Amino acid sequence: MRRAWPLVALVVACAGGELDQRRADTVAQPFSSPPLAVDLDPRPDVVKIALRAAPLDRAGTRLGYNDLSPGPTVRARVGDTVELTLDNQLAAATTLHLHGVHLPYAMDGDGHGAPPVAPGERFTYSFVADRAGTFWYHPHVGAVEQVRAGLYGALVIEGPDEPRLDELVLIFSEVPGEAWDPPSHAHARPLSIEHRRGQSWLVNGARSPLLVLASGSIVRARMLNASSDVPLRLTWPGVRLIATDQGLLPSPQELDELALAPGDRAEVEWRIGPEPFDVLALPDSTVGPIAGEPVAVMSVSPRGGLAAPEPLPWGAPAMPTVDPARAPDAIWVLTGAGVGSDLRINGERFPDVTPTLAPRDRDFVIELRNLSSSRHPMHLHGHPFRVLSIDGQPPPFDSWEDTTELEAFSTKRVLVHPDLVGEWMAHCHLLTHAAGGMATILSVR
Ligand code: C2O
Ligand code: CU
Repeated sequence: MRRAWPLVALVVACAGGELDQRRADTVAQPFSSPPLAVDLDPRPDVVKIALRAAPLDRAGTRLGYNDLSPGPTVRARVGDTVELTLDNQLAAATTLHLHGVHLPYAMDGDGHGAPPVAPGERFTYSFVADRAGTFWYHPHVGAVEQVRAGLYGALVIEGPDEPRLDELVLIFSEVPGEAWDPPSHAHARPLSIEHRRGQSWLVNGARSPLLVLASGSIVRARMLNASSDVPLRLTWPGVRLIATDQGLLPSPQELDELALAPGDRAEVEWRIGPEPFDVLALPDSTVGPIAGEPVAVMSVSPRGGLAAPEPLPWGAPAMPTVDPARAPDAIWVLTGAGVGSDLRINGERFPDVTPTLAPRDRDFVIELRNLSSSRHPMHLHGHPFRVLSIDGQPPPFDSWEDTTELEAFSTKRVLVHPDLVGEWMAHCHLLTHAAGGMATILSVR
Protein backbone atom coordinates (compact mmCIF):
# COMPACT_ATOMS: atom_id res chain seq x y z
CA MET A 1 0.00 0.00 0.00
CA ARG A 2 1.10 3.54 -0.50
CA ARG A 3 1.25 5.00 2.94
CA ALA A 4 -0.59 5.00 6.22
CA TRP A 5 -1.81 7.96 8.22
CA PRO A 6 0.67 9.15 10.78
CA LEU A 7 0.23 7.29 14.04
CA VAL A 8 0.55 8.88 17.41
CA ALA A 9 3.75 8.15 19.23
CA LEU A 10 2.83 7.79 22.83
CA VAL A 11 4.68 7.42 26.03
CA VAL A 12 2.72 6.22 28.93
CA ALA A 13 2.70 4.81 32.39
CA CYS A 14 0.59 1.75 33.06
CA ALA A 15 -0.26 -0.35 36.08
CA GLY A 16 -2.64 -0.06 38.97
CA GLY A 17 -2.73 2.29 41.90
CA GLU A 18 -4.45 5.58 42.29
CA LEU A 19 -4.74 7.86 39.33
CA ASP A 20 -2.72 10.69 40.84
CA GLN A 21 -0.13 8.17 41.80
CA ARG A 22 0.02 7.02 38.19
CA ARG A 23 0.28 10.57 36.97
CA ALA A 24 3.09 11.20 39.38
CA ASP A 25 4.89 7.99 38.46
CA THR A 26 7.63 8.03 35.96
CA VAL A 27 6.98 6.17 32.75
CA ALA A 28 6.60 2.52 33.66
CA GLN A 29 5.68 0.83 30.42
CA PRO A 30 5.22 2.12 26.90
CA PHE A 31 1.66 2.34 25.63
CA SER A 32 0.67 2.72 22.01
CA SER A 33 -1.80 1.66 19.38
CA PRO A 34 -1.26 -1.96 18.37
CA PRO A 35 1.54 -2.03 15.76
CA LEU A 36 0.63 -1.95 12.09
CA ALA A 37 0.66 -5.28 10.29
CA VAL A 38 3.47 -5.40 7.74
CA ASP A 39 2.30 -5.22 4.14
CA LEU A 40 4.25 -7.89 2.23
CA ASP A 41 3.21 -6.70 -1.23
CA PRO A 42 5.04 -3.79 -2.87
CA ARG A 43 2.13 -2.94 -5.19
CA PRO A 44 0.41 0.27 -4.11
CA ASP A 45 -3.11 -1.11 -4.23
CA VAL A 46 -2.53 -4.55 -2.72
CA VAL A 47 -2.23 -5.19 0.99
CA LYS A 48 -0.89 -8.63 1.78
CA ILE A 49 -0.58 -9.64 5.39
CA ALA A 50 0.42 -12.82 7.20
CA LEU A 51 -1.29 -13.52 10.51
CA ARG A 52 -0.02 -16.43 12.56
CA ALA A 53 -2.38 -17.53 15.33
CA ALA A 54 -0.34 -19.14 18.09
CA PRO A 55 -0.09 -19.45 21.87
CA LEU A 56 1.68 -16.62 23.70
CA ASP A 57 2.65 -18.78 26.65
CA ARG A 58 3.65 -22.38 27.25
CA ALA A 59 0.36 -23.34 28.81
CA GLY A 60 -1.51 -22.00 25.78
CA THR A 61 -3.90 -19.96 27.92
CA ARG A 62 -2.99 -16.72 26.14
CA LEU A 63 -3.27 -16.62 22.37
CA GLY A 64 -2.24 -13.98 19.85
CA TYR A 65 -1.59 -13.10 16.24
CA ASN A 66 2.06 -12.63 15.27
CA ASP A 67 2.93 -12.96 18.98
CA LEU A 68 0.68 -10.05 19.94
CA SER A 69 -2.63 -9.55 21.67
CA PRO A 70 -4.32 -7.47 20.36
CA GLY A 71 -2.99 -8.59 16.98
CA PRO A 72 -1.43 -6.07 14.60
CA THR A 73 -3.74 -3.52 12.99
CA VAL A 74 -4.50 -4.26 9.36
CA ARG A 75 -4.73 -1.00 7.42
CA ALA A 76 -5.88 -0.54 3.85
CA ARG A 77 -7.62 2.04 1.73
CA VAL A 78 -10.90 1.90 -0.11
CA GLY A 79 -10.13 0.25 -3.46
CA ASP A 80 -7.25 -1.88 -2.18
CA THR A 81 -7.18 -5.63 -2.62
CA VAL A 82 -6.60 -7.10 0.82
CA GLU A 83 -5.15 -10.59 1.28
CA LEU A 84 -4.88 -11.95 4.80
CA THR A 85 -3.19 -15.31 5.16
CA LEU A 86 -4.07 -17.04 8.40
CA ASP A 87 -1.48 -19.56 9.58
CA ASN A 88 -3.03 -21.70 12.29
CA GLN A 89 -0.42 -22.67 14.86
CA LEU A 90 -3.03 -23.32 17.55
CA ALA A 91 -3.98 -26.72 18.91
CA ALA A 92 -7.57 -26.20 17.66
CA ALA A 93 -9.27 -25.22 14.40
CA THR A 94 -9.84 -21.51 13.90
CA THR A 95 -11.01 -18.93 11.34
CA LEU A 96 -10.52 -15.25 10.71
CA HIS A 97 -13.93 -13.59 10.72
CA LEU A 98 -13.68 -10.13 9.16
CA HIS A 99 -16.29 -8.47 11.33
CA GLY A 100 -18.22 -5.75 9.53
CA VAL A 101 -16.48 -6.10 6.17
CA HIS A 102 -18.61 -6.24 3.01
CA LEU A 103 -17.02 -9.20 1.20
CA PRO A 104 -17.79 -12.44 -0.66
CA TYR A 105 -19.47 -15.00 1.60
CA ALA A 106 -16.66 -17.55 1.20
CA MET A 107 -14.26 -14.97 2.72
CA ASP A 108 -16.41 -14.16 5.75
CA GLY A 109 -14.65 -16.63 8.03
CA ASP A 110 -17.86 -17.73 9.74
CA GLY A 111 -16.72 -21.36 9.77
CA HIS A 112 -19.50 -22.40 7.37
CA GLY A 113 -18.93 -20.58 4.05
CA ALA A 114 -15.41 -21.96 4.04
CA PRO A 115 -14.35 -24.77 6.37
CA PRO A 116 -12.41 -23.83 9.52
CA VAL A 117 -8.63 -23.85 9.21
CA ALA A 118 -7.22 -26.97 10.86
CA PRO A 119 -4.12 -26.81 13.09
CA GLY A 120 -1.02 -26.47 10.93
CA GLU A 121 -3.03 -25.28 7.90
CA ARG A 122 -3.29 -21.91 6.17
CA PHE A 123 -6.05 -20.06 4.40
CA THR A 124 -6.01 -16.75 2.54
CA TYR A 125 -8.97 -14.45 2.98
CA SER A 126 -9.17 -11.86 0.22
CA PHE A 127 -11.50 -9.03 -0.65
CA VAL A 128 -11.57 -5.62 -2.24
CA ALA A 129 -12.07 -2.94 0.43
CA ASP A 130 -15.11 -0.92 -0.58
CA ARG A 131 -16.18 0.82 2.60
CA ALA A 132 -14.21 3.01 5.00
CA GLY A 133 -14.48 2.30 8.70
CA THR A 134 -13.11 0.61 11.77
CA PHE A 135 -13.63 -3.13 11.51
CA TRP A 136 -12.00 -6.04 13.30
CA TYR A 137 -10.94 -9.64 12.95
CA HIS A 138 -11.46 -12.53 15.34
CA PRO A 139 -12.03 -16.31 15.24
CA HIS A 140 -15.56 -17.61 14.61
CA VAL A 141 -15.14 -21.20 15.80
CA GLY A 142 -14.36 -21.82 19.44
CA ALA A 143 -14.88 -18.07 19.66
CA VAL A 144 -15.66 -17.85 23.37
CA GLU A 145 -12.37 -19.48 24.31
CA GLN A 146 -10.24 -18.04 21.51
CA VAL A 147 -11.39 -14.43 21.80
CA ARG A 148 -11.13 -14.51 25.59
CA ALA A 149 -7.62 -15.89 25.27
CA GLY A 150 -6.62 -12.86 23.20
CA LEU A 151 -7.34 -13.46 19.50
CA TYR A 152 -8.57 -10.18 18.01
CA GLY A 153 -7.23 -7.20 16.13
CA ALA A 154 -8.39 -4.06 14.34
CA LEU A 155 -8.94 -3.71 10.59
CA VAL A 156 -9.00 -0.09 9.47
CA ILE A 157 -10.15 0.94 6.00
CA GLU A 158 -9.29 4.53 5.16
CA GLY A 159 -11.65 6.62 3.06
CA PRO A 160 -10.34 8.78 0.23
CA ASP A 161 -11.32 12.22 1.53
CA GLU A 162 -10.84 11.92 5.25
CA PRO A 163 -8.73 14.40 7.24
CA ARG A 164 -5.20 13.18 7.88
CA LEU A 165 -4.72 13.13 11.59
CA ASP A 166 -2.88 11.38 14.32
CA GLU A 167 -4.83 8.26 15.14
CA LEU A 168 -5.16 5.90 18.04
CA VAL A 169 -6.58 2.40 17.95
CA LEU A 170 -7.98 1.52 21.40
CA ILE A 171 -9.06 -2.07 21.90
CA PHE A 172 -10.87 -2.72 25.15
CA SER A 173 -10.82 -6.23 26.53
CA GLU A 174 -11.30 -8.07 29.75
CA VAL A 175 -8.36 -9.00 31.95
CA PRO A 176 -7.68 -12.61 31.05
CA GLY A 177 -7.92 -15.05 33.90
CA GLU A 178 -8.91 -12.44 36.44
CA ALA A 179 -12.65 -12.19 36.45
CA TRP A 180 -13.51 -14.99 34.10
CA ASP A 181 -14.04 -18.60 34.91
CA PRO A 182 -11.60 -20.84 33.10
CA PRO A 183 -12.80 -21.59 29.55
CA SER A 184 -13.88 -25.12 30.44
CA HIS A 185 -16.39 -23.66 32.88
CA ALA A 186 -17.40 -20.79 30.66
CA HIS A 187 -20.88 -22.07 30.03
CA ALA A 188 -21.56 -23.17 33.54
CA ARG A 189 -21.64 -19.91 35.46
CA PRO A 190 -22.86 -16.39 34.83
CA LEU A 191 -20.51 -13.41 34.88
CA SER A 192 -18.93 -12.64 38.19
CA ILE A 193 -20.23 -9.55 39.93
CA GLU A 194 -16.88 -7.86 39.55
CA HIS A 195 -17.01 -8.34 35.85
CA ARG A 196 -20.55 -7.12 35.54
CA ARG A 197 -19.33 -3.92 37.09
CA GLY A 198 -16.64 -3.54 34.48
CA GLN A 199 -13.84 -3.39 37.01
CA SER A 200 -11.43 -5.27 34.85
CA TRP A 201 -10.58 -3.67 31.55
CA LEU A 202 -7.45 -3.61 29.50
CA VAL A 203 -6.76 -1.10 26.76
CA ASN A 204 -4.52 -2.60 24.08
CA GLY A 205 -3.54 -5.16 26.69
CA ALA A 206 -2.52 -2.53 29.28
CA ARG A 207 -4.33 -1.91 32.55
CA SER A 208 -5.34 1.70 33.25
CA PRO A 209 -2.83 3.21 30.83
CA LEU A 210 -1.88 6.87 30.97
CA LEU A 211 -1.60 8.48 27.53
CA VAL A 212 0.51 11.54 27.05
CA LEU A 213 -0.81 13.58 24.11
CA ALA A 214 0.26 17.00 22.86
CA SER A 215 -2.13 19.78 23.87
CA GLY A 216 -3.50 21.71 20.90
CA SER A 217 -3.69 18.52 18.82
CA ILE A 218 -6.61 16.53 17.43
CA VAL A 219 -6.58 12.76 17.65
CA ARG A 220 -8.95 10.40 15.91
CA ALA A 221 -9.48 7.52 18.33
CA ARG A 222 -10.91 4.28 16.96
CA MET A 223 -12.40 2.23 19.77
CA LEU A 224 -13.44 -1.42 19.83
CA ASN A 225 -14.99 -3.55 22.56
CA ALA A 226 -13.33 -6.93 21.94
CA SER A 227 -14.50 -8.52 25.17
CA SER A 228 -16.45 -11.72 24.69
CA ASP A 229 -19.45 -10.74 26.79
CA VAL A 230 -19.09 -7.51 28.74
CA PRO A 231 -20.79 -4.27 27.72
CA LEU A 232 -18.84 -1.06 28.14
CA ARG A 233 -20.32 2.34 28.93
CA LEU A 234 -17.70 5.09 28.76
CA THR A 235 -17.69 8.74 29.59
CA TRP A 236 -15.19 11.60 29.59
CA PRO A 237 -15.55 15.38 29.21
CA GLY A 238 -16.82 16.36 25.77
CA VAL A 239 -17.55 12.98 24.17
CA ARG A 240 -17.75 13.69 20.43
CA LEU A 241 -18.72 10.71 18.32
CA ILE A 242 -17.75 10.92 14.66
CA ALA A 243 -18.25 7.36 13.45
CA THR A 244 -19.83 4.09 14.48
CA ASP A 245 -19.43 0.53 13.10
CA GLN A 246 -19.62 1.36 9.43
CA GLY A 247 -17.88 4.69 9.07
CA LEU A 248 -18.47 8.39 9.56
CA LEU A 249 -21.81 9.70 10.77
CA PRO A 250 -23.68 12.24 8.65
CA SER A 251 -22.87 14.65 11.49
CA PRO A 252 -20.84 14.35 14.69
CA GLN A 253 -22.74 13.76 17.92
CA GLU A 254 -22.02 15.31 21.30
CA LEU A 255 -22.90 12.62 23.84
CA ASP A 256 -22.93 12.26 27.61
CA GLU A 257 -21.71 8.70 27.39
CA LEU A 258 -20.71 6.18 24.81
CA ALA A 259 -22.14 2.66 24.90
CA LEU A 260 -19.89 0.07 23.33
CA ALA A 261 -21.38 -3.43 23.35
CA PRO A 262 -19.16 -6.43 22.62
CA GLY A 263 -18.27 -6.27 18.92
CA ASP A 264 -19.18 -2.58 18.60
CA ARG A 265 -16.87 0.16 17.35
CA ALA A 266 -16.93 3.93 17.73
CA GLU A 267 -14.64 6.68 16.54
CA VAL A 268 -14.22 9.84 18.55
CA GLU A 269 -12.50 13.13 17.95
CA TRP A 270 -10.29 14.12 20.85
CA ARG A 271 -9.38 17.81 20.82
CA ILE A 272 -6.64 17.96 23.38
CA GLY A 273 -6.50 21.06 25.59
CA PRO A 274 -4.30 21.62 28.66
CA GLU A 275 -6.59 19.70 31.05
CA PRO A 276 -6.00 16.03 31.88
CA PHE A 277 -9.02 13.75 31.78
CA ASP A 278 -9.99 10.19 32.58
CA VAL A 279 -12.00 7.84 30.44
CA LEU A 280 -14.43 6.33 32.94
CA ALA A 281 -16.29 3.05 32.61
CA LEU A 282 -19.71 3.43 34.21
CA PRO A 283 -21.05 0.40 36.07
CA ASP A 284 -22.90 -1.70 33.53
CA SER A 285 -24.10 -5.22 32.98
CA THR A 286 -25.82 -7.38 30.41
CA VAL A 287 -29.11 -6.66 32.13
CA GLY A 288 -28.60 -2.87 32.07
CA PRO A 289 -26.76 -0.17 34.03
CA ILE A 290 -26.24 -1.01 37.69
CA ALA A 291 -25.21 0.85 40.84
CA GLY A 292 -21.55 1.28 41.66
CA GLU A 293 -18.55 3.52 41.22
CA PRO A 294 -17.14 4.46 37.80
CA VAL A 295 -13.67 3.13 37.08
CA ALA A 296 -10.95 4.96 35.13
CA VAL A 297 -10.03 2.63 32.27
CA MET A 298 -7.46 5.08 30.90
CA SER A 299 -6.23 8.59 31.55
CA VAL A 300 -5.13 11.27 29.13
CA SER A 301 -2.45 13.66 30.25
CA PRO A 302 -1.73 16.57 27.90
CA ARG A 303 1.81 17.77 27.37
CA GLY A 304 2.03 21.52 26.91
CA GLY A 305 -0.41 24.29 27.73
CA LEU A 306 -2.09 24.89 24.38
CA ALA A 307 -5.85 25.33 24.14
CA ALA A 308 -7.97 22.69 22.46
CA PRO A 309 -8.27 23.30 18.71
CA GLU A 310 -11.55 23.90 16.93
CA PRO A 311 -13.51 20.79 15.94
CA LEU A 312 -13.09 19.45 12.42
CA PRO A 313 -15.99 19.42 9.95
CA TRP A 314 -16.57 15.66 10.07
CA GLY A 315 -19.48 14.17 8.20
CA ALA A 316 -20.69 11.68 5.63
CA PRO A 317 -23.42 12.27 3.06
CA ALA A 318 -26.89 12.52 4.62
CA MET A 319 -28.79 9.26 4.58
CA PRO A 320 -31.91 8.84 2.43
CA THR A 321 -35.20 9.33 4.25
CA VAL A 322 -36.99 6.11 5.11
CA ASP A 323 -40.34 5.71 6.78
CA PRO A 324 -39.50 4.53 10.32
CA ALA A 325 -42.84 2.72 10.39
CA ARG A 326 -42.04 0.74 7.25
CA ALA A 327 -43.42 -2.78 7.72
CA PRO A 328 -40.88 -5.51 8.42
CA ASP A 329 -40.09 -8.19 5.87
CA ALA A 330 -38.98 -10.52 8.65
CA ILE A 331 -39.25 -10.61 12.44
CA TRP A 332 -36.61 -12.13 14.68
CA VAL A 333 -37.79 -12.76 18.23
CA LEU A 334 -35.03 -13.07 20.81
CA THR A 335 -35.70 -15.08 23.94
CA GLY A 336 -33.48 -16.19 26.80
CA ALA A 337 -31.73 -13.91 29.23
CA GLY A 338 -28.39 -15.57 29.85
CA VAL A 339 -26.19 -18.58 29.60
CA GLY A 340 -28.11 -21.70 30.59
CA SER A 341 -31.48 -20.04 29.96
CA ASP A 342 -32.28 -21.45 26.51
CA LEU A 343 -31.22 -18.70 24.13
CA ARG A 344 -33.23 -18.70 20.93
CA ILE A 345 -34.21 -16.70 17.86
CA ASN A 346 -37.76 -17.41 16.67
CA GLY A 347 -37.82 -20.39 18.99
CA GLU A 348 -34.83 -21.98 17.24
CA ARG A 349 -31.27 -22.62 18.28
CA PHE A 350 -28.37 -22.43 15.89
CA PRO A 351 -27.45 -24.48 13.86
CA ASP A 352 -30.99 -25.95 13.67
CA VAL A 353 -32.55 -22.83 12.22
CA THR A 354 -34.84 -21.88 9.35
CA PRO A 355 -32.96 -19.34 7.21
CA THR A 356 -34.70 -16.04 6.54
CA LEU A 357 -34.80 -15.57 2.75
CA ALA A 358 -33.91 -12.10 1.48
CA PRO A 359 -33.99 -11.36 -2.25
CA ARG A 360 -30.73 -9.89 -3.48
CA ASP A 361 -30.52 -6.17 -4.18
CA ARG A 362 -33.80 -5.23 -2.53
CA ASP A 363 -34.21 -3.28 0.69
CA PHE A 364 -35.15 -5.63 3.51
CA VAL A 365 -36.50 -4.60 6.91
CA ILE A 366 -35.92 -6.86 9.90
CA GLU A 367 -37.70 -6.32 13.17
CA LEU A 368 -35.53 -7.40 16.12
CA ARG A 369 -37.82 -8.08 19.06
CA ASN A 370 -36.13 -8.70 22.38
CA LEU A 371 -38.55 -10.55 24.65
CA SER A 372 -35.94 -11.13 27.32
CA SER A 373 -34.73 -9.32 30.42
CA SER A 374 -31.16 -9.18 29.04
CA ARG A 375 -29.51 -6.93 26.48
CA HIS A 376 -28.39 -8.54 23.24
CA PRO A 377 -25.99 -6.83 20.80
CA MET A 378 -27.17 -8.22 17.44
CA HIS A 379 -24.63 -8.52 14.64
CA LEU A 380 -25.26 -9.25 10.95
CA HIS A 381 -22.41 -10.56 8.82
CA GLY A 382 -21.35 -9.02 5.52
CA HIS A 383 -23.80 -6.12 5.29
CA PRO A 384 -24.19 -2.73 6.91
CA PHE A 385 -27.64 -1.86 8.17
CA ARG A 386 -29.43 1.19 9.37
CA VAL A 387 -31.57 1.44 12.48
CA LEU A 388 -35.00 2.71 11.39
CA SER A 389 -36.72 2.76 14.74
CA ILE A 390 -36.32 1.91 18.41
CA ASP A 391 -39.60 0.96 20.07
CA GLY A 392 -41.39 2.75 17.24
CA GLN A 393 -39.42 6.01 17.54
CA PRO A 394 -36.73 7.18 15.11
CA PRO A 395 -33.18 6.65 16.49
CA PRO A 396 -31.44 9.72 18.03
CA PHE A 397 -29.14 9.93 15.00
CA ASP A 398 -28.60 8.18 11.67
CA SER A 399 -25.73 5.74 11.31
CA TRP A 400 -24.63 2.61 9.50
CA GLU A 401 -24.07 -0.32 11.82
CA ASP A 402 -23.29 -4.01 11.78
CA THR A 403 -23.84 -4.55 15.51
CA THR A 404 -26.69 -2.94 17.44
CA GLU A 405 -27.61 -3.47 21.04
CA LEU A 406 -31.20 -4.27 21.99
CA GLU A 407 -32.16 -3.22 25.47
CA ALA A 408 -34.25 -5.68 27.51
CA PHE A 409 -37.83 -5.92 26.21
CA SER A 410 -37.18 -3.53 23.34
CA THR A 411 -37.66 -3.66 19.58
CA LYS A 412 -35.59 -2.23 16.76
CA ARG A 413 -36.30 -2.21 13.06
CA VAL A 414 -33.27 -2.26 10.82
CA LEU A 415 -32.96 -1.77 7.08
CA VAL A 416 -30.45 -3.82 5.15
CA HIS A 417 -29.74 -3.84 1.43
CA PRO A 418 -28.46 -7.38 0.91
CA ASP A 419 -26.35 -7.31 -2.24
CA LEU A 420 -24.10 -10.31 -1.67
CA VAL A 421 -25.27 -13.89 -2.16
CA GLY A 422 -24.61 -16.05 0.88
CA GLU A 423 -25.87 -17.70 4.02
CA TRP A 424 -25.01 -14.79 6.30
CA MET A 425 -24.96 -15.34 10.03
CA ALA A 426 -26.77 -13.00 12.37
CA HIS A 427 -26.25 -13.47 16.09
CA CYS A 428 -25.95 -11.97 19.51
CA HIS A 429 -22.34 -10.78 19.96
CA LEU A 430 -22.25 -11.85 23.58
CA LEU A 431 -20.16 -14.79 22.49
CA THR A 432 -21.54 -17.10 25.17
CA HIS A 433 -25.04 -16.31 23.85
CA ALA A 434 -24.00 -17.04 20.27
CA ALA A 435 -22.36 -20.29 21.38
CA GLY A 436 -25.57 -21.10 23.27
CA GLY A 437 -27.55 -20.94 20.01
CA MET A 438 -28.67 -17.29 19.73
CA ALA A 439 -27.88 -17.09 16.03
CA THR A 440 -29.74 -17.38 12.75
CA ILE A 441 -29.15 -17.05 9.00
CA LEU A 442 -30.04 -14.35 6.47
CA SER A 443 -30.01 -16.24 3.21
CA VAL A 444 -29.42 -13.90 0.28
CA ARG A 445 -30.10 -15.48 -3.11
CU1 C2O B 1 -17.76 -10.47 15.38
CU2 C2O B 1 -20.25 -13.33 13.90
O1 C2O B 1 -18.99 -11.99 14.73
CU1 CU C 1 -27.37 -12.15 23.75
